[in-house]
Amino acid sequence: MSEHSTVLQPGQIYDSATGDATASFERVKSSQVDTSHGAILYLEDITVSFDGFKAINNLNLDISVGELRCIIGPNGAGKTTMMDIITGKTKPTSGKVFFGQSMDLTKMTEVEIAHAGIGRKFQRPTVFEQHTVFDNLELAMKMDKRVKTTLFAKLNSEQRGKIDNILQLIRLNGQENRLAGLLSHGQKQWLEIGMLLIQEPQLILLDEPVAGMSDAETARTAELLNELRGKHSIMVVEHDMGFVTEIAQQGKVTVLHEGSVLAQGTMQQVQADEKVIEVYLGR
Ligand SMILES: Nc1ncnc2c1ncn2[C@@H]1O[C@H](COP(=O)(O)OP(=O)(O)OP(=O)(O)O)[C@@H](O)[C@H]1O
Ligand SMILES: [Mg+2]
Repeated sequence: MSEHSTVLQPGQIYDSATGDATASFERVKSSQVDTSHGAILYLEDITVSFDGFKAINNLNLDISVGELRCIIGPNGAGKTTMMDIITGKTKPTSGKVFFGQSMDLTKMTEVEIAHAGIGRKFQRPTVFEQHTVFDNLELAMKMDKRVKTTLFAKLNSEQRGKIDNILQLIRLNGQENRLAGLLSHGQKQWLEIGMLLIQEPQLILLDEPVAGMSDAETARTAELLNELRGKHSIMVVEHDMGFVTEIAQQGKVTVLHEGSVLAQGTMQQVQADEKVIEVYLGR
């Protein structure tokens, strides 16, 4: 068994926040996110110090409902740390993080944040390798905090339909009976995106989704994200500029550097920005 796979036992649920299987069917009720002012996420003056080193330094950033925001920047800029703060894995030294109008994420645990509707994909795929593609999606659906079901309840036709739709979207239709462990790296990444989507999170965070993918897989992932545009609020961190250009289109790209926003604008604007060229794109 690979270190990344989790085998579920009867009576356990998988926790998408921690990646652990836990012996409980308890669900925290997902709270309603108030997005009446148009923002899904709002980071205000965030600073994070690790032993005096400011990995995030007075960061301000907001994401609109339905936006697909690309985040770029050099290694060590604080991109992953920012996702750690949003998901509650790391607590900021100072500053506020609002999910919608009123939910302060800095006061919530990692599990509460996941249950409130923020889904995250880490860089390496974390699918259940010894289960089929279909079973992975079924398990993910049953982990949905809003659905009261058990692992062993039979799927109804609506739930099957939802899985079929996701299979199409992630380009794994026809592969549903394959063991996830036999998929290519790119296919595992898509499966994990599908497992996130099936839970209908309000905000999706993707950290380097195309790292390690073939060119063809990267192109198909760009298509997939373009299909999700407008339907979900998504934050994507990537170093692959061809990919970012494909998915950013006329949307906003944020450049992080030394824990703060260095520049923000369309891909064309940030690519022409002297500061961005100096610290990142000109390398
Ligand atoms: N737990 C931690 N303790 C100490 N330093 C940390 C910790 N987590 C991150 N850092 C440091 O914070 C800085 C930002 O790291 P982070 O992983 O957020 O960068 P990144 O922008 O995601 O980079 P990359 O593009 O390489 O993934 C780095 O200098 C890193 O070494
Ligand atoms: Mg990172």
